[in-house]
Amino acid sequence: MPLTHDPDWWRQAVVYQVYPRSFADSDGDGIGDLAGVTSRVDHLRDLGVDAVWLSPFYPSALADGGYDVDDYRDVDPRLGTLADFDTMVAALHEAGIRVVVDIVPNHSSNRHEWFAEALASPKGSPARDRYVFRDGLGPDGAEPPSDWVSMFGGPAWEPVGDGQWYLHLFAPEQPDWNWSNPEVRQDFLTTLRFWADRGVDGFRVDVAHALAKDLSADPLPSQADLVPVDEVLDGSHPLWDRDELTEIYARWRAVFDEYDPPRVAVAEAWVHPARRHRYAGADSLGQAFNFDLLRADFAAADFRRIIDHNLAATARTGSSNTWVLSNHDVVRHRTRYGLPDDHGRGGATGREWLLSGGTSPRVDDEQGLRRARAAVLFLLALPGSAYLYQGEELGLPEVASIRDEARQDPTFYRSPGVDVGRDGCRVPIPWRAAAPSAGFGPSAASHLPQPDGWAEFAVDRQDGVEGSTLELYREALALRHKLQGAETLEWTDVGDPDVLAFERPGGWGVVVNFSGREVSLPGGEVLLASGPCDGAVLPPETAVWLRRP
Ligand code: NOJ
Repeated sequence: MPLTHDPDWWRQAVVYQVYPRSFADSDGDGIGDLAGVTSRVDHLRDLGVDAVWLSPFYPSALADGGYDVDDYRDVDPRLGTLADFDTMVAALHEAGIRVVVDIVPNHSSNRHEWFAEALASPKGSPARDRYVFRDGLGPDGAEPPSDWVSMFGGPAWEPVGDGQWYLHLFAPEQPDWNWSNPEVRQDFLTTLRFWADRGVDGFRVDVAHALAKDLSADPLPSQADLVPVDEVLDGSHPLWDRDELTEIYARWRAVFDEYDPPRVAVAEAWVHPARRHRYAGADSLGQAFNFDLLRADFAAADFRRIIDHNLAATARTGSSNTWVLSNHDVVRHRTRYGLPDDHGRGGATGREWLLSGGTSPRVDDEQGLRRARAAVLFLLALPGSAYLYQGEELGLPEVASIRDEARQDPTFYRSPGVDVGRDGCRVPIPWRAAAPSAGFGPSAASHLPQPDGWAEFAVDRQDGVEGSTLELYREALALRHKLQGAETLEWTDVGDPDVLAFERPGGWGVVVNFSGREVSLPGGEVLLASGPCDGAVLPPETAVWLRRP
């Protein structure tokens, strides 16, 4: 089905996140690539997604899985060429699937040509002004300008040998850009146009809340004085969520609006929910991720509160919602939902379990899957867009058993023994159970090791199998396309605090039993169920889509 000319396509789109290095490998080097994505367009079409969002595929030393970009306007040779990119976009568009690419504007890699120029240029030079350089403290600048800690652990400043230090909020290989510099601003506009001209439909904006910074205080505040950004409501944090971002994204919006239909964008902004609208407005990026469900327990009251809050927030901005349960940065939700209650299941949790190599506490895998299937039916019934992460349609769990030598995430290396990082949700996808690397590629190579039993989740093990998670997703997406109407919902009070039910325009809706007991099902025709359901009783941790009688 070819693409329609619909400027609002994103409002209720199902967007599937591809983490290219782990999706499909076309040449057998163990690293997924763009030709691999092209080879799997049929899977995406049969699944019924409206768009794919590709995590970075740019040239990179992979100090942070590609979020350390050497060149924003090229393809990593290990992943293909610009011609492969064009072929992939054409194939996806031909299948009616739009393409969103990741833009990483807070930092480049330390191999970017402008960073090399900055290092080769003297202190105070225009080349250094493109990044955030400061003099070190002490007589010879041997001490960092502040005691700030990077997001991956360890110091946020790196010395360059002449008394100056550069800021990196993430890994040392990811120097932060100076967004007060007009050349930096202009260069990103060039990058946006470069990809938009190649047919890209939208952008996911990495750490969108970090670009603007105010380092004018002397001395700089200490780490202990930095309030967590999601507690700051007035734009006064020196590093995050500053008001100057409004002007930056207004310029981006002007570029998006040069295109017909306008290009879209979604901000990754971990800010106070009350500040999210600043990224989501029509004069800004247009949409902002809400990670609230991803951080929530599988609990009716929490889900209800999150939905109400976010529906009210988008009503104010005119944006649409962005529901998400998993992505490449968090423990997969099947596993989160199987952790014992007192271990929390939010996105950043599961740490203790990961550190134990997946042995303690015990994960109730069946319960995790049951809840994951119910949660996704709930999510897909909501008004707004749904972001799915590759492999969740197969019910993939988090992999905790990766040996230390095989780990890649900088978090693991920079916080030894404290955090094993995010590799466990990035293990290459199983496609064919009987093939080497479970069909990830033509050889047995897999850049992160696939654990025993991985092949059991393969696409060909679930294709056409009634009740499989893959078939559940396919049916849900197909039905959603048929049923989806105006972006509203109406809660139905079923008189049970563990049950949530709402109706959408057109006389259909969802009922979810969050509890461990059976509940009675309100009347209606069951269109789809996340687990066995006889139509009269809703089993524990099960969701159904119903048509009103
Ligand atoms: C957010 C990305 O999702 C994550 O994977 C990355 O490590 C950081 N931003 C830094 O770019």
